[in-house]
Amino acid sequence: MRCIGHRGAMGYEPENTLDSFQAAIDMGCDMVELDVYAVDNHLIVIHDERVDRTTDGCGAVMSHSFDALRRLDAGKQQQIPTLGEVLDLCLGRLQVNIELKGPNTAGPVCRFLDQNYPYRSNDLLISSFDHAELARANPRYHRGPLFGKAANYLQVVQRLDAVAVHCHRNLINKTMLDTLHAKSLKVFAYTVNDPQQIAEFRATGVDGVFTNYPDRVLVP
Ligand code: G3P
Ligand code: CA
Repeated sequence: MRCIGHRGAMGYEPENTLDSFQAAIDMGCDMVELDVYAVDNHLIVIHDERVDRTTDGCGAVMSHSFDALRRLDAGKQQQIPTLGEVLDLCLGRLQVNIELKGPNTAGPVCRFLDQNYPYRSNDLLISSFDHAELARANPRYHRGPLFGKAANYLQVVQRLDAVAVHCHRNLINKTMLDTLHAKSLKVFAYTVNDPQQIAEFRATGVDGVFTNYPDRVLVP
């Protein structure tokens, strides 16, 4: 079962910061997950629509300039990182799951990857709850639709030519795992932090879990 560090290792360091991704690397994660917005022709890594919860600023992410976002403290006096900063830190060490979180991010993200990381497509996995936006991602990148509620997973996967399904943990059951595995699809569950639940997911044969506490999954 693969260990996917959720927003890095957000149980230990401020989420979606370079310290958080470094912690996930140090713990031995197989992959890290991050959330991306496109602002002023820059790609920045932050989860919420507003900056209030995770920084010392306030207001909508999209109402800020890139420079203003970079002046904020995202925790322990770190800047909100750019996608490039996170990829430079992570690629070659672990895989990276880029969640298209902000509006109209598929085009800018894929152009950025094409220009800067042209040989890294196997180390990248692009996901989104917005399946229409995910469909706009260049098909040379692996895609994994996110699901917060039950759906016709196979129909969505086929439309996107996806390689993985990223489901809320409550959606995982043996029937759906068998169905998706029979189509050679990976199934990843978010967000799994409880040690007992981690053990239960391991037993189900799920392919990976997103977790805030990678060390709980990466038990020796
Ligand atoms: O990609 C898994 C998980 O990050 C999706 O939910 O709200 O944490 O972005 P959220
Ligand atoms: Ca996410």
